[in-house]
Amino acid sequence: MLRTHLTTTWNLRYPIIGAPMAYVGRGRLAQAVSRAGGLGMIGIGSNEPVEFFEREAAIARGAEQLRFGFGLMAWAIEKRPEMLQAAIQSRPFLISISFGSLEPYIELVHQHGIYLATQVHSRAEAVQAAQMGVDLIVAQGTEAGGHTGDVGTLPLLQAVLDAVQVPVVAAGGIATARGVAAALAAGATGVWVGTCLLASPECENTEQARARIIQSQETDTILTRVFDVAQGLSWPPQYAGRALRNHYTDQWHANVEALATDVQARQQLAEAIKEKDYEQAHIYAGEGVGLVRQQQAAATVIQQLGDGAEQLLHERYRTLF
Ligand SMILES: Cc1cc2nc3c(=O)[nH]c(=O)nc-3n(C[C@H](O)[C@H](O)[C@H](O)COP(=O)(O)O)c2cc1C
Repeated sequence: MLRTHLTTTWNLRYPIIGAPMAYVGRGRLAQAVSRAGGLGMIGIGSNEPVEFFEREAAIARGAEQLRFGFGLMAWAIEKRPEMLQAAIQSRPFLISISFGSLEPYIELVHQHGIYLATQVHSRAEAVQAAQMGVDLIVAQGTEAGGHTGDVGTLPLLQAVLDAVQVPVVAAGGIATARGVAAALAAGATGVWVGTCLLASPECENTEQARARIIQSQETDTILTRVFDVAQGLSWPPQYAGRALRNHYTDQWHANVEALATDVQARQQLAEAIKEKDYEQAHIYAGEGVGLVRQQQAAATVIQQLGDGAEQLLHERYRTLF
């Protein structure tokens, strides 16, 4: 058994958190991850209706009353504070608030006995989050799928681990047992994984997206604002999103300012999303996508990460010393 803060204090079988992934990681995926011994999370998009929370929470909890978390974006809560209220009312074990200021919400979340996490992208952000009293810091490297910062997971993790006493999990590019073992060996209390679950049947991806994920290499992603600008989303500009490269990013990435006013190009993306045409529409995924080679049940992915890391760490310990 691996022993870290997440397994001893949070009582998880594996020190693995299934990252919140808006629109694709919902109750079904959270349930599968938690049932397998990790902690599953439900991603919350900026336009999710308040009914979404209780409905997906019930699915995540399942008959066994499993624990789960919600992942929200601070800039979206600012516009729609009712989302945080709905999240709290659905009684999650963990709430993560990232991409903006979380200070106004810390007390409220803690008052309800819910743990609070945040994803950070620099040492300074980690120190600030620790001072504010978050329970878990997620060092999210630029390799991560979805929206992220500019610093690589490994330099960020080293800086953050040196800077704070709060438990830290590593996120970004961790998709096999080797990655989990590396993060734990460095001193992380666990990992926060998204991309490696994108091809699992419990993920709400389309069949076409799953097929594309399995065929993609680690070199096939791009960190871009193209899809946010084209959809008119209010993402703060410092957070671009890592997605699979396609014709749309080839055409617009270097020209993103023009896209904002190009009605036709924006319409083209809206139609492509409806048509599931992924040469135009986005699939958010991290560099770890090159390690996702088959459609495996989420439970299998989590078990392989956890058991594999344990075995690797044992073997390395024996050979290194
Ligand atoms: C498809 C997708 C959607 C995501 N949506 C969210 C989100 O809604 N909220 C959030 O905090 N992070 C989101 N993320 C980031 C993840 O929480 C996590 O940091 C990332 O997946 C970890 O890196 P990895 O993809 O390399 O495992 C998303 C990631 C992906 C791949």
